[in-house]
Amino acid sequence: MRLGSIVALLALSSAAAPTATATATATSTSTSTSTSTSTSTSTSTSTSTSTSTSTSTQGLHDLVKRRLPSHCHDFLFTLQNASVPTNSTHSALDEYSIATATNGSIAIQGNSLSALATGLRRYLTDVAHVDMYWFIGSRLDQATSPLPRPNGTIHGKSIVPWRYYFNTVTFSYTTPFYDWDDWELQLDWLALHGVNLPLAWVGFEQILLDVFRDIGLADHEITAFFSGPAFQSWNRFGNIQGSWNGTLPLSFISSQFALQKQIVTRMLELGMSPILPAFTGFVPRAITKHYPNATVINGSRWEGFESQYTNTTFLEPSDPLFATLQASVISKQIEYYGNITSFYTLDQYNENDPYSGDLDYLRNVTRGTWQSLKSANPSATWVMQGWLFYSNSDFWTTDRISAYLSGVEEDQDMLVLDLFSESQPQWQRTDSYSGKPWVWNQLHNYGGNMGLYGQMDNITINPIAALHDSPTMVGMGLTPEGQEGNEIMYKLLLDQAWSSTPLDTAQYFHSWTTSRYAGNNSLPEALYTAWQLLRTSAYNNTNLTSNAVPKAIFELAPNITGLVARTGHHPTTIRYDPAVVVTAWQQLLSASDQDARLWNNPAYEHDVADVTRQVLANAFLSTYTSTMATWNATSPQANATLLASGISSLKKLLADLDSVLLALPQFRLDTWLDSARALAPPSNTSNTSTSPLSEYYALDALNQITLWGPTGEINDYASKSWGGLVGQYYLPRWSVFLDYLAATSPADYDAHVARARVKELEMNFQVSGLQVGAGAGAGAGAGPGLEEVKVGGGLNEVVKGDVADALRTLGML
Ligand SMILES: *[C@@H]1O[C@H](CO)[C@@H](O)[C@H](O)[C@H]1NC(C)=O
Ligand SMILES: *[C@@H]1O[C@H](CO)[C@@H](O)[C@H](O)[C@H]1NC(C)=O
Ligand SMILES: *[C@@H]1O[C@H](CO)[C@@H](O)[C@H](O)[C@H]1NC(C)=O
Ligand SMILES: *[C@@H]1O[C@H](CO)[C@@H](O)[C@H](O)[C@H]1NC(C)=O
Ligand SMILES: *[C@@H]1O[C@H](CO)[C@@H](O)[C@H](O)[C@H]1NC(C)=O
Ligand SMILES: *[C@@H]1O[C@H](CO)[C@@H](O)[C@H](O)[C@H]1NC(C)=O
Ligand SMILES: *[C@@H]1O[C@H](CO)[C@@H](O)[C@H](O)[C@H]1NC(C)=O
Ligand SMILES: *[C@@H]1O[C@H](CO)[C@@H](O)[C@H](O)[C@H]1NC(C)=O
Ligand SMILES: *[C@@H]1O[C@H](CO)[C@@H](O)[C@H](O)[C@H]1NC(C)=O
Ligand SMILES: *[C@@H]1O[C@H](CO)[C@@H](O)[C@H](O)[C@H]1NC(C)=O
Ligand SMILES: *[C@@H]1O[C@H](CO)[C@@H](O)[C@H](O)[C@H]1NC(C)=O
Ligand SMILES: *[C@@H]1O[C@H](CO)[C@@H](O)[C@H](O)[C@H]1NC(C)=O
Repeated sequence: MRLGSIVALLALSSAAAPTATATATATSTSTSTSTSTSTSTSTSTSTSTSTSTSTSTQGLHDLVKRRLPSHCHDFLFTLQNASVPTNSTHSALDEYSIATATNGSIAIQGNSLSALATGLRRYLTDVAHVDMYWFIGSRLDQATSPLPRPNGTIHGKSIVPWRYYFNTVTFSYTTPFYDWDDWELQLDWLALHGVNLPLAWVGFEQILLDVFRDIGLADHEITAFFSGPAFQSWNRFGNIQGSWNGTLPLSFISSQFALQKQIVTRMLELGMSPILPAFTGFVPRAITKHYPNATVINGSRWEGFESQYTNTTFLEPSDPLFATLQASVISKQIEYYGNITSFYTLDQYNENDPYSGDLDYLRNVTRGTWQSLKSANPSATWVMQGWLFYSNSDFWTTDRISAYLSGVEEDQDMLVLDLFSESQPQWQRTDSYSGKPWVWNQLHNYGGNMGLYGQMDNITINPIAALHDSPTMVGMGLTPEGQEGNEIMYKLLLDQAWSSTPLDTAQYFHSWTTSRYAGNNSLPEALYTAWQLLRTSAYNNTNLTSNAVPKAIFELAPNITGLVARTGHHPTTIRYDPAVVVTAWQQLLSASDQDARLWNNPAYEHDVADVTRQVLANAFLSTYTSTMATWNATSPQANATLLASGISSLKKLLADLDSVLLALPQFRLDTWLDSARALAPPSNTSNTSTSPLSEYYALDALNQITLWGPTGEINDYASKSWGGLVGQYYLPRWSVFLDYLAATSPADYDAHVARARVKELEMNFQVSGLQVGAGAGAGAGAGPGLEEVKVGGGLNEVVKGDVADALRTLGML
């Protein structure tokens, strides 16, 4: 099965012969195949050896039961001509149809579970005008009752066989502290949005622990290799090893493993093929003690980390031990989860250059790795991120790329994720990855940074063009570093995977607005206007010198220079007219003047807070620029009044923003910290929030979004505009710096002095930050500075009062 067969299968599309028909009605009361949620730490044998995704529609009925409990009997799902996707070549396109059955049921037919789930959402958004959302959750229960019936028949057909989701690092930036409720919501979201190929990294350390124990390593030798919960992704990539401020406990590993069993079971029930991890070659240092002859190399230093935390040991695929460990990793997963997938994620050179650039060597690495995978599971497909070819493009010349890819001698045994297709596509440069199947992905943001942003034209036009230009493009997907916001851009790409012509974004934003606010009652026109204004401004970036979510400059260490006009993938340049977003903000607010019930709508509250955040971030940027000019024009004494006014505006903007963000849990630091603390088993002391283990988890969570490393190795990379962080960290950091400027003339300015003061504050926050809202749980902030804010409410007052005042003072209203 080479290139020709993919083309043939793509062309064949729905012409597949009927192979299976399964019908179940929503009235079915049979209990589902739901997973046993044992929290056992054991590695005992598991479930079944069933292959790939289920052909029962029970998983969809269960989804309806979870999200639309009063409408369990309204839906009829029928699986027709079912074809179970098992590998990257199997390219039958998914199709569904929706109609009202003669008995009045909403009848959804499709040729796969993923097609049925996508059809269900199509009905929910287009007919019932409700949807599920990040941060807000399921709004499906807002549908009118009885549910509206479709008038005619609605058809849908995917344009690619695979809809992919997740970046390896999303498991650290977004999901490290997810509990099962969070995962259930996430997986329902994925299924309804048509995703059928998600990464499934959770709990992998249990597999490695068992594998390394089997070959004689001691537990302390293995856990010394693992990184903290918020940093596991880069350990899995071989960038870092070890955990600062404590060791990853075995209890964490086993509880994540229990979660993973639930996750993969649910993925299968919802028609998704999980992509499981494989053995990469990265091993604990102690391997050489037990296997002195093993061929290992020690990785280069990553991002300036002390060699203790990087310099990772890599076992060469040419060493026979590599194949042994690969077989062990794969077979343990089959033993624990069942023989459930043929997809394996495997990246060896993510921001780590190979030991040698010799073409023979590179070909040998992939060939050895590929052979190890195929002998462990003959049906294996190696899923690889194409990121390295972009991030380390100096090393990865065309020759090296093709040598490396040629080691996988069967093209169909590999699936490459073109990771950042909307801005830095690599598929043209690599000649469609030398003919390997590949997926067009939108990355969109780095480090879960927050800013309104989109390339709406690019993500609707370019994947369609790529599909025409590259015969081996077999999927479309999302690879966000963090699942941070701008949800409309992610939905747009996944919906584009079901339309062979570029979606009309004006119409798309209109429909989005209707279901966003569950608009069965008519919505104020101002809401539609607000979203159209955002569409033509923040969501219409076309200047790809800035190519991802912009970062607010107040999240960066203060400086007199270097903060504004940054480009690249952490840009600070704003590519639209900020006044348009102010107008959108006014339109949003005027909608609730017309219909005050919007203040009880969580989607509305979220959007008000989010757009306010952007308006204030933009105001900070322009105020910073003018204040710097004032300071720099002459001595601080000469311009004292003007300078003082600029400085006080900057501080006030941050204080106001903090109040806005504290009003909603999804925008609060303590929500993140408390979710980390909640991983600690309940201790016998009365207050679990102060047990050493819960503090280890919380510090790990805090460190990621601030210093990112024990001493600020990737400082502020994953910064967040969160209540508590803005007020207790960014504001003090700017205050100390601005107060220094107020007392120092440009001629006397000493960057070392300024930096030292800021740095001291940064280091101290690793301790004091844990107190921000500590122990408050949801809804009762008690940390420093939080008292004055009416938590969980008062958004209306803050936005229309303090925020509007501040903008008026700055002449922005
Ligand atoms: C992929 O799956 C299809 C359908 O099950 C099968 O016919 C084909 O041989 C498989 N291809 C490979 C390379 O395993
Ligand atoms: C069905 O058609 C009627 C009459 O045209 C219309 O009023 C109604 O809104 C339609 N319902 C749906 C769910 O589209
Ligand atoms: C965390 O670890 C770093 C580096 O080892 C150390 O400097 C710091 O004091 C530790 N912080 C805490 C809160 O334990
Ligand atoms: C390692 O290699 C040396 C020299 O080739 C050999 O004498 C020794 O037996 C080997 N040890 C192991 C554990 O394979
Ligand atoms: C990297 O690790 C190896 C083996 O653990 C060690 O021999 C070497 O000195 C380390 N390199 C640095 C720069 O620390
Ligand atoms: C690559 O593998 C072949 C076959 O095993 C071997 O002869 C050759 O020396 C290897 N080349 C390099 C550079 O490792
Ligand atoms: C897992 O399934 C694949 C085919 O889907 C098969 O080739 C392989 O032998 C199976 N492995 C086990 C251990 O059953
Ligand atoms: C999208 O971005 C790619 C890569 O930079 C570029 O080649 C293409 O022209 C862009 N397309 C649109 C529609 O903006
Ligand atoms: C998006 O921006 C491009 C480039 O500035 C412009 O040509 C296009 O009209 C804009 N689209 C919309 C809908 O505003
Ligand atoms: C894109 O942005 C860069 C950097 O800010 C700027 O120099 C260039 O003029 C912009 N291009 C267009 C077409 O606006
Ligand atoms: C201050 O002004 C000087 C002279 O015009 C200029 O070189 C420098 O970049 C300015 N610095 C800041 C921080 O604006
Ligand atoms: C400002 O940025 C420059 C260039 O990166 C750096 O050398 C300097 O230390 C920074 N100053 C402060 C106060 O952080």
